[in-house]
Amino acid sequence: MGWRKVTLIAAVFAVSQSAWAQSPTYGVGRTPTPEEIRAWDITISPTGKELPQGHGTAKEGAALFVSKGCNGCHGGTGAGGPAPTLIRSKPGQPAMAMACLAPCVNDSNAMAVHSPFATTIWDYINRGMPLGDEGSLKPDEVYALTAYILFKNDVIKEDEVLDAQSLPKVKMPNHDGFGLPPPWKHGEPRLQGYP
Ligand code: HEC
Repeated sequence: MGWRKVTLIAAVFAVSQSAWAQSPTYGVGRTPTPEEIRAWDITISPTGKELPQGHGTAKEGAALFVSKGCNGCHGGTGAGGPAPTLIRSKPGQPAMAMACLAPCVNDSNAMAVHSPFATTIWDYINRGMPLGDEGSLKPDEVYALTAYILFKNDVIKEDEVLDAQSLPKVKMPNHDGFGLPPPWKHGEPRLQGYP
């Protein structure tokens, strides 16, 4: 390597070092407190290891479905309202009464039928429902509502108690239905063998 090249590399290195050391501060914002980070850190993974204490059954969930107003948007039977279908409709139930809100989630891809993990339903309700009053549900209520939706879609039994241990073990009907690509091995191009 010629001395010019060495000098150039040294110069680039020196500049990036000093840029790093002197990265500007703008005097806005502040470091969040550990409590603030904890309050935002609510993601529940498929293993459910982040799930809080608490428990609930489908019976409790049926009452909450009405008292928390889920029926107002999702329909009294969990279908047929303006919000996405939560409970697969059985023959004879009324069809969609109003135009479905986008994204319109219908019978075949309602979460309890389609999602590979039961923990996704818990996470979704906990972070996003009831729409307009998000974050208001207690863990027991989220377990109960999840149990109700899973029971009504024939995924669990009515008396099954859902909690941090039992929820991740629920075998979802579409668990294997996503056709994931084969596991990637180091050194191979991504998505090899995947159409
Ligand atoms: C004000 C209307 C409203 C209320 C009340 C409401 N929801 Fe929803 N819900 C929605 C809408 C709209 C969506 C679709 C949002 C989207 O996909 O962006 C949704 C989506 C969902 C989903 C995901 C559905 C799927 O398959 O993708 C679940 C689960 C759910 N709601 C459960 C509940 C529960 C349980 C309650 C009661 C605690 C509730 N919702 C109350 C409007 C509502």
